[in-house]
Amino acid sequence: MSYKNLSVEYDDTTAIVTINRPKKLNALNSETIQELHEAFEELDAEKDTLVIILTGSGEKAFVAGADISEFSDFSIDEGAELAANGHKILFDFIENLSTPVIAAVNGFALGGGLELAMACHFRIASDNARMGLPEVSLGLIPGYGGTQRLPQLIGKGRAMELIMTASMIDANSALDYGLVNHVVSQEDLLPHCIEIAEKIANNSPVAISHAIKVVNAGFKTNVNGYKSEIEAFGECFGTADFEEGTTAFLEKRKAEFPGE
Ligand code: COA
Repeated sequence: MSYKNLSVEYDDTTAIVTINRPKKLNALNSETIQELHEAFEELDAEKDTLVIILTGSGEKAFVAGADISEFSDFSIDEGAELAANGHKILFDFIENLSTPVIAAVNGFALGGGLELAMACHFRIASDNARMGLPEVSLGLIPGYGGTQRLPQLIGKGRAMELIMTASMIDANSALDYGLVNHVVSQEDLLPHCIEIAEKIANNSPVAISHAIKVVNAGFKTNVNGYKSEIEAFGECFGTADFEEGTTAFLEKRKAEFPGE
């Protein structure tokens, strides 16, 4: 895999995807969005890749938003198309990926950058991180899922305030709000994410992919999360991972999940 705006490295069964436009604070232009789609699609298909970490290059930014220079002259239809395409190929795509995705938020995560971090399955921040949805300061609203995922994560009142004021919060406030799960120093950020990834990788990939699907089901309209859970729970009983997990437990040994 080779990309113009991304790098992909591996630490054992964890893939680390780094958005690499530091001079533009890793702002998401359309090419980067397309490359992220391709990278996530390929990594998800790799059987040996059990967890993906997404981060930004440099010490200043995770992603400072969608690339404003690309859409400043867009029409109503082009604006709607921009959002719809982004949802489809990147933000919803990551949220619904079978492989767990951790956002390592290493600096500014603004606008589309925070929306990208929120589309990941959970977030770890470095202590210099700053997060916000500043779109209304540009005459816009968040268009990559921010109006939906931010209230899900931090509650409606706090989300309304953050969106309306266009202000940023620091890493500790984000921790307090539940927007990120942990705050660590910048140098500890990737090691800490890898440590969590290793814990995830000990477990059944098939069960984890079911868990992602079912947790997400509860946030979808016209989908009954409890019903989805019951169905997926039942499906687990037909997997080789279930057979291995229960057999290993009874034999008092560590499970070696086949991922099937
Ligand atoms: N789109 C396009 N370019 C962006 C960008 C974005 N979202 N965010 C930053 N950049 C570019 C800047 O234009 C600048 O490019 P230049 O050096 O060619 O002029 C470069 O990245 C560095 O940014 P700069 O603003 O000089 O850094 P700063 O430290 O002074 O400020 C921010 C950092 C994050 C506060 C500021 O860049 C910012 O407000 N960015 C926009 C955030 C935003 O509104 N995002 C939502 C978009 S919908």
